[in-house]
Amino acid sequence: MSADKIHIFDTTLRDGEQVPGCKLNTSEKVGLALQLEALGVDIIEAGFPISSPGDFSSVEEISKIITNATVCGLTRAVEKDIEVAAAALRHAKKPRIHTGIGTSDLHIKAKFNATQEEILERAVKAVKYARRFTDDVEFFAEDAGRTDNDYLARVVEAVIAAGATVVNIPDTTGYCLPHDYGAKIAFLVNNVPNIDKAIISCHCHNDLGLATANSIAGVINGARQIECTINGLGERAGNTSLEEVVMIIRQHKELNLETGVDPQLLNPLSRLVSDTMRMPVQPNKAIVGSNAFSHSSGIHQDGFLKSAQTYEIIAPEEVGADSSKIILTARSGRSALAYRFQKLGFRFDRNDVDSLYEQFVTIADRKKEVEDSDLSAMAIQHQSSAAAV
Ligand code: KIV
Ligand code: ZN
Repeated sequence: MSADKIHIFDTTLRDGEQVPGCKLNTSEKVGLALQLEALGVDIIEAGFPISSPGDFSSVEEISKIITNATVCGLTRAVEKDIEVAAAALRHAKKPRIHTGIGTSDLHIKAKFNATQEEILERAVKAVKYARRFTDDVEFFAEDAGRTDNDYLARVVEAVIAAGATVVNIPDTTGYCLPHDYGAKIAFLVNNVPNIDKAIISCHCHNDLGLATANSIAGVINGARQIECTINGLGERAGNTSLEEVVMIIRQHKELNLETGVDPQLLNPLSRLVSDTMRMPVQPNKAIVGSNAFSHSSGIHQDGFLKSAQTYEIIAPEEVGADSSKIILTARSGRSALAYRFQKLGFRFDRNDVDSLYEQFVTIADRKKEVEDSDLSAMAIQHQSSAAAV
């Protein structure tokens, strides 16, 4: 049975760019959009056109230059927003309007001082209005994670009947547990009569560190689009990380899912986004962190040197990362030390390594990491004292 395609909806340039200090200008956004297209994402959310002239021009310029991916602009469920988004997207080969409104009781009361029926009406009206400009309309039910499932199902059914082709079920506050989020998606699959007319999308935030797990639970239960960002950037604790969901889907063949993303471009693009947005990547970040392929404990190093797969489920070259690193610290063992001497061009037998190891541990206790220059100095000294005997 052939694998089901998961559409990758990248929102680095919209939700990702909302991170304080990550604001991009139009030419930076256009540059990143081209790289996202090369990466193979299906949809690029280029911005929120009504929010500022800068965002309008970014969506407009990205629309002109992108050829394969769908270009998407965000709006509130407000006619003026939709008109402005449509204008910004007018040059796009494949334009999508992403409109929506809060559906949880909290949003309905605190933000809109409205009733469920009024919100449902506004949602339907916005989708119908957006369909005047494009056939590709995505509806988001903001705070769907905390929205009552029966009401959510009514909203989803109504917006699909109004013409929505994608229904986005955001866990806006990152509140859901994976089994609850998965059950929410399954509930929609089983209780919305016209659900086969639209794609269900997951848009998960990382406030409890569950964004990736929730998105995966979503696709296991029938969603076919994931909204995500490079390096997991996004409001507060961020969004689902693109590189994580892509590699989970690639690693777990039993899910029978696939994406169109080229994994070898993940690390280069992660670095480019980090540099352009001036936002460093945490070293222990999965797939793209500087320590993702580094081994420092003796037990791991020994196993890794015998077979890399003992401690690596992904080869670094598969995701465009630098080769795996053996880091020499006070936790390292003799195998790693011998390996590093060999890499530096020194060949020592077991007795030599034993005596050099004593010296190495003393240095390693003093320094966080033993450098090649320390090792070369040790090796040369060892060789000359051996020659003098
Ligand atoms: O988190 C969220 O709910 C959003 C919507 C605007 C899609 O970003
Ligand atoms: Zn969001």
